[in-house]
Amino acid sequence: MCGIVGYIGKKEAYPILIKGLQRLEYRGYDSAGLALINSQGNLNVYKAKGKVADLEAYCVGKDISGCVGIAHTRWATHGEPSSVNAHPHYSASGRLALIHNGIIENYLTLKEKLSSRGIAFQSATDTEVLVQLIEYIMTSNDIGLLEAVQVALHQVIGTYAIAIVDRMHPDTIICARQSSPLVVGFDAEDNFYLASDASPIAEYTDQVVYLNDGDIAVLQRGQKLHVVNLDNVTQHPKVKQIDVTLGQLEKGGYPFFMLKEIFEQPDCLRDCMRGRINADRDKITLSAVIDFREKLVSARRIIIVGCGTSWHAGLIGKQLFESLCRIPVEVEYASEFRYREPVIFKDDVVVAISQSGETADTLAAIELARKAGAFVFGICNAIGASIPRMTSTGVYIHVGPEIGVASTKAFTGQVTVLSMLALTLANERHTISEERYKEMVVELTQIPDKMEQALKTNEQIERLAPIFTYAKNCLYLGRGYNYPVALEGALKLKEISYIHAEGYPAAEMKHGPIALIDSEMPVFVIATRDKLYEKVISNIQEVRARGGRVTALVTEGDTRIRQLADHVIELPDTLECFQPLIASIPLQLLAYHIAVCKGKDVDRPRNLAKSVTVE
Ligand code: F6R
Repeated sequence: MCGIVGYIGKKEAYPILIKGLQRLEYRGYDSAGLALINSQGNLNVYKAKGKVADLEAYCVGKDISGCVGIAHTRWATHGEPSSVNAHPHYSASGRLALIHNGIIENYLTLKEKLSSRGIAFQSATDTEVLVQLIEYIMTSNDIGLLEAVQVALHQVIGTYAIAIVDRMHPDTIICARQSSPLVVGFDAEDNFYLASDASPIAEYTDQVVYLNDGDIAVLQRGQKLHVVNLDNVTQHPKVKQIDVTLGQLEKGGYPFFMLKEIFEQPDCLRDCMRGRINADRDKITLSAVIDFREKLVSARRIIIVGCGTSWHAGLIGKQLFESLCRIPVEVEYASEFRYREPVIFKDDVVVAISQSGETADTLAAIELARKAGAFVFGICNAIGASIPRMTSTGVYIHVGPEIGVASTKAFTGQVTVLSMLALTLANERHTISEERYKEMVVELTQIPDKMEQALKTNEQIERLAPIFTYAKNCLYLGRGYNYPVALEGALKLKEISYIHAEGYPAAEMKHGPIALIDSEMPVFVIATRDKLYEKVISNIQEVRARGGRVTALVTEGDTRIRQLADHVIELPDTLECFQPLIASIPLQLLAYHIAVCKGKDVDRPRNLAKSVTVE
């Protein structure tokens, strides 16, 4: 949460910073700000409550010149969203400006200490403490900025990605990282860029360094990138090449990123399987499994950890691993797992799932598993993020940057990777026949085409959506593999339309939620033809008998449910275990169109941020 961006070089900084903030807006959007040092050495700081567009409007007519600057888009943790609490924060003398993503846990202790020495604070944030502390250390010890940052960060407990400018040294930006992501880019023309992820940098250079925890980078005009640690020991982080294309970062004619990402899914899944499933479609090769075959194949148990949508993908993974590989699986919310005292064995495999690769709870769960000696396998989308770097091995889902805050293509990418992993392990463990394995691999490769067919329901769903905008509550029902799809469908609706929705295993409905059913409550049932089909029909009957309004997702050609449900949405048939890849599409579209009908900002739902880097 919170996005940070910075630039120093030969170009005007303002347009680079604004464009960078727009790309990072998915990380938070309750306020934004920037600091620029102009050619006269003045430090100009501008902040506005609201979105990046509000900041831009605020900057009209102001001095926005300067070839060095830092900028921030905020997701509030300490202090309400307001222009005072927006970043950058500046030091008492007005000399330093600082932006921060993360949380300074001991900020109150530090604040009291500084206040007792006469330093006045402007904001209610934890961040302001950092900039005041750095200046205090600088002036009271008569030392330079880098040294002061090192001394200050030694006193700080918490997480941070920070960037600081000093109007007395306009040729330098200093940035540092601890548990919050930070990427530095550079080119041959003496330009440096920094950002929370590579998306604001990709337009200008493909040469980047992902900073490690404890790294402090000095971006100094005319000098090579210099990275040290808190004890001033020089570090040598690897230079990497960004593989994000600009097209992936634009809306490409769609009104919202979410819709673009929903429609991208067939191609995303093709990318996800490319090079992993051979041309004959009879073999899956995951290099992570080749490299760590023994560990994975002989796993005594799999524990899947994740949050939100990634946790839902994990629930599908559980069914895949249990039914295909006969390995017992537990699926845990990372946020709960980290604070319990879970029993973890050395021969457990912990699978951590995360789109961003930066979710604080998932990172902490991995740390716990590693300490217990378990083998940790990551499933991640963001290249070079913290999770792939701290897991023993893993698989990227390769669905490209996901910018809409509500996750769509990452979910289907995660389920695809889990399917490939489960099939690979099942084949290695001989828990399914060679023939079945091949049939399933072929079917998996056909999913993108079937998704294209499922996307054709878009117009029907757009027509249906207005019917549901009045709803205060909705119920999503599914069984087996479709139960996590119900959870995911409900989450999508809650997130972007602010309608309360619950996902439930269809048969559990009669143990409580059935009391809620009346003609006011839309009930969405995933009723595709699988082994629980007849049972789900009974559940639909139970809803109907209580006056409930049913919209059912059915397998194409289904005539029975058509007679029972108010609306049916037909989907192509596939194997039961791959049905979530198809059935999630109309539910994503439904949430999208309902939110649009309600006039909501689909890509930037209130209170949410894409990358949850705080607990
Ligand atoms: C829902 C959504 C969130 C994320 C969750 C985990 O649409 O996006 O629930 O799934 O915050 O994020 P990652 O996968 O980045 O760890």
